[in-house]
Amino acid sequence: MNLTREEEKVLNGELGRGTQAAMELLVAIGDAYDAEKMISISRAHAASSGQEGDLYFVELLANGGARCLVPTSTNPVYDIDFFHRLFEIPSDEAEVARRVMEAYKKVGAILSWSCLPYLTENIPLFGETVAFSESSATPYVNSVIGATTNREAAQSALAAGVVGKTPRYGLHIKENRKGTVLMKVEASLRGSFDYTLLGQFVGEQIGYGIPVLSGITRRPKTEELINFCAMSNTSGAMSMFYIPGFTVEAQTVQEAFQGDVPQDKIIVTDAELKRTWERMQTASGKIDFVMLGCPHYTLKQMAEAARLLEGKKIHGGVSFWICTSATTKALAKRMGYVDTIERAGGSVVVDTCIDEPCWTVYKDKVGMTDSPKCAYYRRFRDVVVAGLEDCVGAAVKGKYE
Ligand code: F3S
Repeated sequence: MNLTREEEKVLNGELGRGTQAAMELLVAIGDAYDAEKMISISRAHAASSGQEGDLYFVELLANGGARCLVPTSTNPVYDIDFFHRLFEIPSDEAEVARRVMEAYKKVGAILSWSCLPYLTENIPLFGETVAFSESSATPYVNSVIGATTNREAAQSALAAGVVGKTPRYGLHIKENRKGTVLMKVEASLRGSFDYTLLGQFVGEQIGYGIPVLSGITRRPKTEELINFCAMSNTSGAMSMFYIPGFTVEAQTVQEAFQGDVPQDKIIVTDAELKRTWERMQTASGKIDFVMLGCPHYTLKQMAEAARLLEGKKIHGGVSFWICTSATTKALAKRMGYVDTIERAGGSVVVDTCIDEPCWTVYKDKVGMTDSPKCAYYRRFRDVVVAGLEDCVGAAVKGKYE
């Protein structure tokens, strides 16, 4: 890569070992992708987690004196004190999580502990160059907001946040932002959960690529887009997509393909989405727990959960969890949603990802969730995946039929 004199200084360690390590990673990535130069970013989001790999890199930077140069938000880990009071968490696991969270604080990150930072704590604008990791964040930021980011890892996003730069390659270049696969949507997409299934199906079909979805006539809601992004970038590697007329960068299918012809064309029908749903089910009947909020629930989803639970009681044999951000929980509390959910026997937990050791107690239980991503990461013994209304109904009855 061609580095400026200032960038060379960082790489040579003149600004300290932490910033040097961040720059080393960015240069290695740039070399691997034949990037010619670095470009400045305005913000970053690191998909932090309470895991060893994350701990190694963030401590390397923090202990080497690195500090974030641009706003850099963080993904959820888990609320260690809260879970310690409930479950046995191995002390070495808790120690890793505690050190990760301390190191992110030391490096000057925004301690959002949220997987939807682009809604509240760290919001890019159209045209910004950023470095966002996390499955829903990367495609949402590229497609819905129209900022540019590559599909970053926690480490590369943190490194970019510390240096304030990222190598110029991939989705930072307009030609690479063109659609690759035309997805003709004939499915009726009646409700929010249909977008979850659509995301799961699209990711499975394209693997790696930029789908252009035609045939969608109703403007998708924010939560539908979030779930579409999260699932398609988990079942596949989808960093960007187009729904011409609704996402910002292309108003027509032709524009989305930048004049090229699609490499492939796939038709999405109601029957395909039904088959996608059926493939995920490994259980029915009695359930032990319900886990919602992967990605973290928005205020609107909290309101919907509270509405469905109003005046009801969750079955004694079922644990009911909703994960959200501290910001959203504070508002939901103020608006009475949290009290309603708790009165029914549910719990709202902040700062917490479903893919953390605090949930080990549920490993051999039968779970229900509205998120295929949650089902995939938690590797429940058996799982039912269904929309929020069905999850609440099953939680109250103690079973899904
Ligand atoms: Fe968020 Fe963790 Fe799910 S980061 S999207 S709760 S796997």
